Amino acid sequence: MIKREDVLSFLEEDFNLPSPLNVVTKLSNIIEQQDASASDVAGVIQYDPSLTGKLLKLSNSAAFRGSTAITCIEDAVLRIGFRRIKTLVLSLSLIDTFPKCNILDQYKFWKHSLSTAFTAEMIAQSIVKLPPPYDDFYVTGLLHDLGVLVLDQFTPETYLTLRGELIHSKSHLSDLERQHYGIDHAELGACMLRKWNLPDTLITATKLHHESGEAIRNHSLQAKILHLANFACNKQSLFNSIENEQEALYTESGWRASGLPISDIPSIVEYVTQKIEQVSAILEVVKAS
Ligand SMILES: [Fe+2]
Ligand SMILES: [Fe+2]
Repeated sequence: MIKREDVLSFLEEDFNLPSPLNVVTKLSNIIEQQDASASDVAGVIQYDPSLTGKLLKLSNSAAFRGSTAITCIEDAVLRIGFRRIKTLVLSLSLIDTFPKCNILDQYKFWKHSLSTAFTAEMIAQSIVKLPPPYDDFYVTGLLHDLGVLVLDQFTPETYLTLRGELIHSKSHLSDLERQHYGIDHAELGACMLRKWNLPDTLITATKLHHESGEAIRNHSLQAKILHLANFACNKQSLFNSIENEQEALYTESGWRASGLPISDIPSIVEYVTQKIEQVSAILEVVKAS
């Protein structure tokens, strides 16, 4: 029988990945300067040839409006934009950092995470109409399911058994995870973000992303927006390779209580569909490397 302490000590002692935000610290500092130029931003990126190659490919893809060929990173920065470059660098570096999955389909996993990131950013900007920047919302969407990857690395055979049970039952993933591991991926992911010293709002949002609308009623906008973005992606069957239809159904019933407009759900779901081209372009670049 696996104990919760075993999972937590695996995370603490054996799962030592660098914080994904370290990668973009230098880039963030440059971008925040009022007079930053594309050449300044390109100067930071060029130190990493692999990243440079991926961003050039992305800037030439149809998904990022690649009508004329771009061959230098400075032009790629101008085409993609400073802020989007930052979130792309973060995403590409994070995907590169994680070990290959054992039983999960890692591309499906990252497709879900990237879709949730783009959607959370859009909800903050266009639905809730918050002032910029929206990076924190993107980051929350990108990181919210990392606990799933930790469990896949910890005991793949147990996760395989659990996935079989999930397919043949009406249980929720989090309930089965708590039965098998004494902890679910949302809480485990939150522990990982705490280990990286990320902000409390991000940690709490991650921990709560499978709670009902009622449960997040008194929490931050970040928690509510992540909850809705995750729900919208599951609604479009963009599952993270282990979650299933149950999640989309049960969240809908409690959503109204969270305080965000339920009438906007169709347009959010529509946005997920539109954004899938960019998400797929990112994953194509990752697969090709
Ligand atoms: Fe999840
Ligand atoms: Fe998710």
